[in-house]
Amino acid sequence: SSASATTDATAPPMVKYSIPFLGNTIEYGIDPVKFMIKCQKIYGDTYTFLMLGRKMTVCLGADGNNFMFNVKIKDASAEGAYETLTVPVFGSEVVYDVPNPIFMEQKKFVKDSLSTAAFKAYVPIISGEVKGYLSSLFANVKGEQEIEIETFEAMSELTIRTASHCLMGKEIRDGFNTGKVTKLYHDLDAGFAPINVFFRWLPLPSYFARDNANREMTNFFKSIIKKRRANNTETLDVLNGLMKAEYKDGSRPSDDAISHLMIALLLGGQHTSSTTSSWMLFELARRPEVIADLLKEQSMVLTGKPDTPAHLLPELTLESLKQLTLMDCVMKETLRLHAPIHTIMRLVENDVRHKDFVIPKGHFICAAPQVSHLNETRFPKAERFDPVRHVGSDEGSGEWTINGVDIAQKSAKSLFLPFGAGRHRCIGEQFAFIQNKTIIALFIREFSHRLSVDAKTGKEVFPVPDYTSLIAVPKAPRNLMVKRRSVVA
Ligand code: HEM
Repeated sequence: SSASATTDATAPPMVKYSIPFLGNTIEYGIDPVKFMIKCQKIYGDTYTFLMLGRKMTVCLGADGNNFMFNVKIKDASAEGAYETLTVPVFGSEVVYDVPNPIFMEQKKFVKDSLSTAAFKAYVPIISGEVKGYLSSLFANVKGEQEIEIETFEAMSELTIRTASHCLMGKEIRDGFNTGKVTKLYHDLDAGFAPINVFFRWLPLPSYFARDNANREMTNFFKSIIKKRRANNTETLDVLNGLMKAEYKDGSRPSDDAISHLMIALLLGGQHTSSTTSSWMLFELARRPEVIADLLKEQSMVLTGKPDTPAHLLPELTLESLKQLTLMDCVMKETLRLHAPIHTIMRLVENDVRHKDFVIPKGHFICAAPQVSHLNETRFPKAERFDPVRHVGSDEGSGEWTINGVDIAQKSAKSLFLPFGAGRHRCIGEQFAFIQNKTIIALFIREFSHRLSVDAKTGKEVFPVPDYTSLIAVPKAPRNLMVKRRSVVA
């Protein structure tokens, strides 16, 4: 609610700093989660810190989440917070380049394309990609010889192959084989470097590469759209859905808009998903007993017996994947401890009231799911990886709707929000679960893995998060030792 008439309310407490403009930038930058928890102990759930001259008001706790995720669009906007960074990468007419109600319709187009029929078709596509990639990794490896893999690189490759194949279609997927699309993808991705938030008009070389990549990628999508139209091609990917989409006013998204939305999906789902499968592997590496339970679960679900050898397990389907509930819990627990998006932001457009405070226009308000995820009351022994705590809970995997009952809104009071809540809630959640559950299920069937060991210290290496970009990925060194499972005849 607006606070213009109130006189008793004040701005939130300001976190101490010594250097003007720079403020708390460095401490936040090194470890935002640690910094926000430290400040929470001193200032409470609502406080403001200074980052490169910007006033960032952190809103913690279930009330903070609810406020942040359900704030009215006239009071605070995602566009104001993300536009500078995303519009040049994604392109015009979509996402944060359009008024939010239009983007809401665009999200609905994507959501509608991600139907049960589509998901059914995706599972064998993902399985095929995973098997193909893993066998290429091990092409020159004999028997049970152990190799060291760069986990995040391997998972990034799997993510991009599976996502592009399912969501964009075979034409784009094949573009990654020729290297054509790979180069464009990397130039676009480089456009997300945090420096770009602050120096929008600096003529950095990466800007030209980014803008050029956006143009070329757009043209590539447009040529595919033309071909599909000419041949009346029908597929179950999102591109197909967008080509048929119609706004409420009867107009249709232009071919540029369709292409730009595809770029947004490609980039929005890439690091979030690849960091998740990477952390899943790292967490499992220290817990062979959980891997044994996961294999037993696959065996039970797929063959009705607990001990079918891994290499004899049948193909996964959407139905069987849904029954892998322990795998579900492993993914949720991984997201709890390693939420890919550590800070979610909005720009305050009108003074807005939260609890006893008035947060002034021009501040950024921030939610921090990772801080909620470490709440000791909600998650006892919060630092401990314990998948079983999610058994029977559907929290965090709620439905998402626009016009009907807003279940997402209800869940905004939650302390488990890896996919956000409210109008900006993730639409890729179900896809991410299908994709990552399949990747990990097939990986553990074929391979056993363990943490690598530091040559100098002799200690196992469990990576720390790298917070320098918008998405917390495991920081290098992030290798795993992997070998084929022995096949007992
Ligand atoms: C929004 C997390 C995968 C597309 C969000 C938000 C979060 C999130 C926290 C809310 C952002 C905000 O409120 O500002 C994740 C995680 C993922 C994941 C943890 C994987 C484990 C994906 C995938 C796609 C995707 C695979 C695409 C297929 C989107 C879109 C939005 C969104 C379009 C809406 C942004 C908005 O309305 O402003 N995601 N995401 N995400 N995500 Fe995801």
